Amino acid sequence: ISRKGSKLVREIHEKQSISKSRQRFWELAGSKLGDILGVEKSTEQIDADTAVVGEDGEVDFKEDAKFAQHLKKGEAVSDFAKSNSLAQQRQYLPIFSVRDELLQVVRENQVVVVVGETGSGKTTQLTQYLHEEGYTNNGIVGCTQPRRVAAMSVAKRVSEEMETELGDLVGYAIRFEDVTGPKTVIKYMTDGVLLRETLKDADLDKYRVVVMDEAHERSLNTDVLFGILKKVVARRRDFKLIVTSATLDAQKFSNFFGSVPIFRIPGRTFPVQILYSKSPCEDYVEAAVKQAMTIHITRPPGDILIFMTGQDEIEATCYALSERMQHLVSTTSGKARNLLILPMYSQLPADLQAKIFEKPEDGARKCIVATNIAETSLTVDGIYYVIDTGYGKMKVYNPRMGMDALQVFPVSRAAADQRAGRAGRTGPGTCYRLYTENAYLDEMLAQPVPEIQRTNLGNVVLLLKSLNVENLLDFDFMDPPPQDNIVNSMYQLWVLGALSNTGSLTNVGWKMVEFPLDPPLAKMLLIGERFKCLNEVVTIISMLSVPSVFFRPKDRAKESDDAREKFFVSESDHLTLLNVYQQWKANEYRGDWCNDHYLQLKALQKAREVRSQLLDILKTLKIGLSSCGPNWDIVRKAICSTYFHNAARMKGVGEYVNCRNGMPCHLHPSSALYGSGDMPDYVVYHELILTTKEYMQCVTCVDPRWLAELGPMFFSVKDSDTSMLEQTKKRKDEKSVMEEEIERLIKEEAEAEMRK
Ligand code: CDP
Ligand code: MG
Repeated sequence: ISRKGSKLVREIHEKQSISKSRQRFWELAGSKLGDILGVEKSTEQIDADTAVVGEDGEVDFKEDAKFAQHLKKGEAVSDFAKSNSLAQQRQYLPIFSVRDELLQVVRENQVVVVVGETGSGKTTQLTQYLHEEGYTNNGIVGCTQPRRVAAMSVAKRVSEEMETELGDLVGYAIRFEDVTGPKTVIKYMTDGVLLRETLKDADLDKYRVVVMDEAHERSLNTDVLFGILKKVVARRRDFKLIVTSATLDAQKFSNFFGSVPIFRIPGRTFPVQILYSKSPCEDYVEAAVKQAMTIHITRPPGDILIFMTGQDEIEATCYALSERMQHLVSTTSGKARNLLILPMYSQLPADLQAKIFEKPEDGARKCIVATNIAETSLTVDGIYYVIDTGYGKMKVYNPRMGMDALQVFPVSRAAADQRAGRAGRTGPGTCYRLYTENAYLDEMLAQPVPEIQRTNLGNVVLLLKSLNVENLLDFDFMDPPPQDNIVNSMYQLWVLGALSNTGSLTNVGWKMVEFPLDPPLAKMLLIGERFKCLNEVVTIISMLSVPSVFFRPKDRAKESDDAREKFFVSESDHLTLLNVYQQWKANEYRGDWCNDHYLQLKALQKAREVRSQLLDILKTLKIGLSSCGPNWDIVRKAICSTYFHNAARMKGVGEYVNCRNGMPCHLHPSSALYGSGDMPDYVVYHELILTTKEYMQCVTCVDPRWLAELGPMFFSVKDSDTSMLEQTKKRKDEKSVMEEEIERLIKEEAEAEMRK
């Protein structure tokens, strides 16, 4: 989880070039994927002059008239949605016209692939049809989503359509949050949740049907589920599987399950005019803002959707837009039409997310600024204009760094087309691509690279091992991950003590599987137990699992910074988080106390929930809760013990390099360690975030001797007596292992000889 300080937004405002540092990042990281995607090539182009499309009236007047006509029709659609009951709206969806045929195909087949344009009703209707058809009489209908937000918002919508409380007949489950009850028959969940359920119940007996939604996204967990569910289908004749996709890669899914039928929902979309940038654009945030303002001032009504890569860019865009609107309103003496600016990203609080579906009262134009979450998983009606930056964030395993990093990449052509399509749902629309046609044709990949082929497989390896998949290379993957990635992930698990030398799960590994956490954090819990500071470690991990708890409104930046500083524990951001939580607890978890101290109550409450769930798991494992009291040095040692792959050494003021791979990384100005006078020589960090620089996120000062003690496979203390002794011992051990091995080989050969 990326936790970004809002200072980053300011940095973007200062218009430091994002693309330059991105290019530098790739030079340093030297990742293979960078080469595949031609990132550097396109980065060069983007550094050239900015040009905004559409400003010189590429759309002529006649076009506009036609547009306005269609727009009227489009408005009729929105009016329809407003004035009719949810039940009537349901009948208006494309999927409704093929309801009976679809149910028949499902009746006659165990596995069906369903293809339909985004917004045709797959996610909200399929589950209800199955319920209406009686499939929920014996078992529940589960529907998986690659994104948490989609699972929550869709469950809410369906519960409204079925006129039931959320959590009653219809519920959802995401990591650390289960809103289902004994009566729940339709359960939306993230694919990760279902994957974890297979640990407890390999046959998924409580499910009558599973809908694997958004399969085209090819999320890591979905891909693993493919292999697992294929086995369930073979074992349980009463089980049905529906795989849905918004794009045309359905044949591949069908083949994987043995040429199962593909059911296509007829589309109902309007043409979308595509306009390309004339030359590559340097600062797509600036270009997008300009384009949105141009549309707002010169084009007919219709909402705008802008695709950005992440939270910081979205915040910067929204801020810039509101500034320019203010300016516009003041220069036109209030005559300008209102523009409702709405951010949308997964870490945004749920009530703010829900706003994108609301209709503005005063007939204002909506401008939604979203991540690729709005590409397929969420459908907002009324969008006529799409502004596509051509970039998106992807989790990529970087072999040089030995870790996953969320990085900005050009999207694939399939994704770009999907984005454009969002403008043609209510009427004919326009998509402004802030990149050249050549970039689209020559530099973008046709399809995105499945996550399984580009991320760290630590969790997957752990999970499959616990499901007794001995040889991961034999697992039925639709697209097998590169062997390198498997080996690398296994190596990391071995370092964490989860795998034995022979590659099987150790006791530690078995325990780690129980926690819905990334392996290093799961390990930190177990170390917390060993170091008798489990209470403290659980709190820290809970705080790391939620959005930032610090509140920093733009108009009160100074006050909020001062308030945050009061919580600082100068050696560690992790301990600062612990301090915040403990003080909140000491103040009876009060909301007004949070307000007074510029803390986000919601985030803290979420942390408290996560904490209590982790405690439940610890209880089932019969691990008692220990506390180290005020001796927090031991907590730092526990933190150090799991982050040694993220250990860094100081090189200059605020400048560090990763101890293992030499990657430069910087202390973020919002860190508790920043400006504390003498910066520590050695630190470990939670993750590396690339914005204008490679910033370490959540940093803790460590004693270098701990690194040697806890990660001896990586670090040693030079010229120290102990290490000399240890090294000699290690060499001896290695020698004896080798001798044993040779002896064994000789014996085997001799036996083979005998048999001959
Ligand atoms: O899954 P698919 O993209 O095929 O469509 P869907 O998500 O089932 O959406 C069907 C309709 O429900 C769309 O017109 C959405 O705008 C609407 N919807 C909504 O109003 N609110 C939600 N939270 C989800 C869907
Ligand atoms: Mg959907």
